[in-house]
Amino acid sequence: MNKPRVYATHPLFEPARNLLEARCEVDYWRGPARPTRATLLEHVAGKNALICLLTEKINDEVLDAGRDLKIVANVAVGFDNIDVPACTRHKVFASNTPGVLDETTADFAWTLLMAVARRLLEGDRLTRSGQWTGWDLDQLCGGDIWGKTLGLVGFGRIGRAVARRARGFNMRIIYTDAVRASTEAEVEAAAEYVSADRLFAESDFISLHVPLLPETRGLASTKHLSQMKPTAYLINTSRGPVVDEAALVAALEAKKIAGAALDVYEKEPQVHPGLVNRSDVILAPHIASASVETRTKMAVMTVHNVLAVLEGRRPPNALNPDLTVA
Ligand code: DGY
Repeated sequence: MNKPRVYATHPLFEPARNLLEARCEVDYWRGPARPTRATLLEHVAGKNALICLLTEKINDEVLDAGRDLKIVANVAVGFDNIDVPACTRHKVFASNTPGVLDETTADFAWTLLMAVARRLLEGDRLTRSGQWTGWDLDQLCGGDIWGKTLGLVGFGRIGRAVARRARGFNMRIIYTDAVRASTEAEVEAAAEYVSADRLFAESDFISLHVPLLPETRGLASTKHLSQMKPTAYLINTSRGPVVDEAALVAALEAKKIAGAALDVYEKEPQVHPGLVNRSDVILAPHIASASVETRTKMAVMTVHNVLAVLEGRRPPNALNPDLTVA
């Protein structure tokens, strides 16, 4: 019997490959860069499943080219690259990888937070440069973390994982979200719900953990950035367009905030030129979930979603769960 055919826009990790290849015929994109649009459209033809990354925009064009597709499985929790209603119209499941990357992403939000507050990269550059003249009293003084206020924009799984770590730093934790969490969740995280205005005004560190939606696009705007304390820092491990980068550059230039640490950008892989040469900014290349363990789990989870659909079951992480299984 012919095996179902899958196009994967990346070779995945070995445990995921083994699982997939045992049941499917797999065509992997193995190029050093991401596949072009033309390549994606060409390879998706005749395939029963597409495994894609967040760098691929999945819309009617792809779904028209892949008429035999039963699932589009994103190797990411964020799915702003997928037009889910279009998938539903085409009777194609869409899936993502929730849960497995929460702790790793929270670790990295903290990595950025601590590195920007304590000027780690500036210190690293100075130490390597040969220009370091020795200990000095006012050298590379940053901001304290212990006992400060952490503001979480978004209090889902990742926001809460960031909050758990903050307790070890004796921080006051405040959060804002479209929907207020249960009293139980607030008590467990020792977090207080506040308005966005209060959060931007009262926090020493603001960490963003919202999906990219029309309501969250440009959320870190001129208005909110100008409410921040001049000693406060902005951390973004969510999606780039949640921050208005031009407004951020203006706020940094005017010293309205102390610094920013970003893992994601409005137009990846481009970075706003006003950010590139600033010493009060840390720039990471969208790697918050990039541990070998977590990326492997994401790939395996993606394969489970694909296999479920190809075996006539509903994918465990369907984004359009109401779709009828063929
Ligand atoms: C996601 O999963 O959405 C991240 O941005 C990459 O892990």
